[in-house]
Amino acid sequence: MASKRGALIVLEGVDRAGKTTQCNKLVQALIERGRPAEMMRFPDRSTTIGQLISAYLQKKSDLEDHTVHLLFSANRWELVPVMKKKLEQGITLVVDRYAFSGVAFTSAKPGFSLDWCMKPDEGLPKPDLVMFLQLNPAEAALRGQFGTERYETSAFQKAVHERFEQLMKDSSVNWKVIDASQNIEGVHNDIRTHSLNVFNEAQNTPLGELWR
Ligand code: TMP
Repeated sequence: MASKRGALIVLEGVDRAGKTTQCNKLVQALIERGRPAEMMRFPDRSTTIGQLISAYLQKKSDLEDHTVHLLFSANRWELVPVMKKKLEQGITLVVDRYAFSGVAFTSAKPGFSLDWCMKPDEGLPKPDLVMFLQLNPAEAALRGQFGTERYETSAFQKAVHERFEQLMKDSSVNWKVIDASQNIEGVHNDIRTHSLNVFNEAQNTPLGELWR
C-alpha cells in the first residue's frame, strides 16, 4: 500500500504575531508524536531568486512592485517539486508564510487588486490548514519596535491585516483564526489541536490545488 502523504500546514499573520516560534514548536510537537515533520519558510532566501528578494526587503536594492510580486511567487513555485516529494514521503510541512502573505502584502500597495495578486500562485499545492495568528495592532506594539526591513511600518501592516481579512472570507481555504495574544504555550496548544485534527483528512485526500 502506498504510504500516506504528509499534511501541508501554513501559519500566516502580521509581523510579530509569533509565527516562526510557533512553527518551530509545532514541528517539535509533531515529531514527538511520531509524525515526521519539517519547517519551511517563504520567502526562502537561500535560492538565487530568494537572494534578490532578500536584498529588496533589506532595502539594498529596489525592484518594481509587479516584478517583486512575481519573484515572491516564483520563489514558491521553485520549491514545489521539493514540497511535493516530501509530502509524498509522508513528511508534514509546517510553512511560515505562503501565497496568502504574497497577496496580502502586494495588494496593500496602491493599484493592486486581490485578483491580480492571486493569479501567479493559482495551482500551488493547497494547504490542508491555514492558521492566521490574530494580533491587534495595540498588542503587536507592546511586543516592541518594528525592524528595519521594507513593509515594517504600522500603517502598512494595518493595510496588510485588512487584506488578510478579505482573504479569510474565501471558504475554499481551510482557515482557522488563532488568538495570538495568549502566552506562547496557549497559542501552541490551539495550533497543535487544529493540526492534529487535519491529519486524517489530509491522509485520505489527494493534495489539492490552491485557488482552483
Ligand atoms: P520574513 O522573512 O521576516 O517573514 O519577512 C518577509 C517579508 O516579506 C514580510 O514583510 C512579508 C513579505 N512577503 C511578501 O511581501 N510577499 C510574499 O509572498 C511573502 C512570502 C512575504
